[in-house]
Amino acid sequence: MGSMWPRSTVTDRRAEDARRAVEAAVWAPSVHNTQPWRFGLRGTRIGLRADPDRRLEVADPEGREMLISCGAALFTLRVAIRALGHEAEVHVLPDPDRPHLLADVHVGARIEEDEDARRLYAVVRRRRTHRGAFRPDPVRPSLLSAMKLEAEREGVRLIQVVETHTQLALAGLTQAAEHIQQMSPAYAGEAARWAPAPGSRRADGVHEVSYPSRPPHTEPDFAARDFARGHGWGAREEPGHEPGNEPGGEGGGGQAAGAPRPVTGLVILVATPDDTPLDWLRAGQALQRALLRATAEADLAAAFHTQPLEIPEFREFIGRRFCNGHHPQMLMRLGVPDGPVLTTVRRPAEEVVYEET
Ligand SMILES: Cc1cc2nc3c(=O)[nH]c(=O)nc-3n(C[C@H](O)[C@H](O)[C@H](O)COP(=O)(O)O)c2cc1C
Repeated sequence: MGSMWPRSTVTDRRAEDARRAVEAAVWAPSVHNTQPWRFGLRGTRIGLRADPDRRLEVADPEGREMLISCGAALFTLRVAIRALGHEAEVHVLPDPDRPHLLADVHVGARIEEDEDARRLYAVVRRRRTHRGAFRPDPVRPSLLSAMKLEAEREGVRLIQVVETHTQLALAGLTQAAEHIQQMSPAYAGEAARWAPAPGSRRADGVHEVSYPSRPPHTEPDFAARDFARGHGWGAREEPGHEPGNEPGGEGGGGQAAGAPRPVTGLVILVATPDDTPLDWLRAGQALQRALLRATAEADLAAAFHTQPLEIPEFREFIGRRFCNGHHPQMLMRLGVPDGPVLTTVRRPAEEVVYEET
């Protein structure tokens, strides 16, 4: 460590980098963009806490998706701290008496430049959820293998679903789950609270700038969440940019006749051997690691379809039949977005940071 600097200057620098890491972490993905986190700053330490007021009481009674979201924020803290040149010392769930304290993170000793951490840190704000079709470009097998390996290092499995009938079964389950949720006033009401009307100034939730007004129907067709709720909200496609608008295909749901069917992309399940809060945090860290890797290496984006994992019977079934008994945590499609990647909102770091005494 640079002995040329007085000790207080070194500590000040590390404390400043702790803040910068939090500014990056708020860009992690979270279910319905609930951003269910708070960051307690004490010098060079960051206490990551779940914010239970932002848990989805109906869809996520155990807080599983809340912890996956916070896990994604935790990985972002780790990668930011390393990219800024420090060891990231992390104690996950450090205090059984304070279950909402998810991690104690310390901005530690100076490290050699971590070029890889810098690559991932550089795309934290570029990573976006995509809610449409993908281009037919293949995903490099070596990239997928690297993502699987990195997930394994976090204790998590990325399972690529290749078999057509399994893809169709999973797509069917998302359709069924979406219908079941729309039929339930409690589910639908909760989702509506996180999908603000156009013009809203809220800095959370899924706004109409974040989803297409006419989600393309891919084959197999994974149901999109109904953020627009029949109001016709959502971003309009630029003329000539409708996915699948190229001539010569078979056409399908909502697309011009004769147009090729929009591409589903790779279908991926994220699964863990157990199903504890620690596994959920691991799943979130592995997810964000994979998403940042995919963004940095090939400008890929993911579309999430987690409705069936919010219905316990479906989740159990998917785990038993398609995850080799492991517990499914996420279901997503991955590829190069076809058409524009839309935008999203965040609460500023000041809103989620508090000084710990
Ligand atoms: C646990 C979890 C579940 C999610 N489920 C869905 C989903 O079913 N449908 C969807 O469109 N987006 C889903 N998302 C994506 C979030 O809506 C998205 O991360 C959030 O709106 C912020 O936008 P961004 O990812 O573009 O930054 C999920 C994200 C997480 C972390």
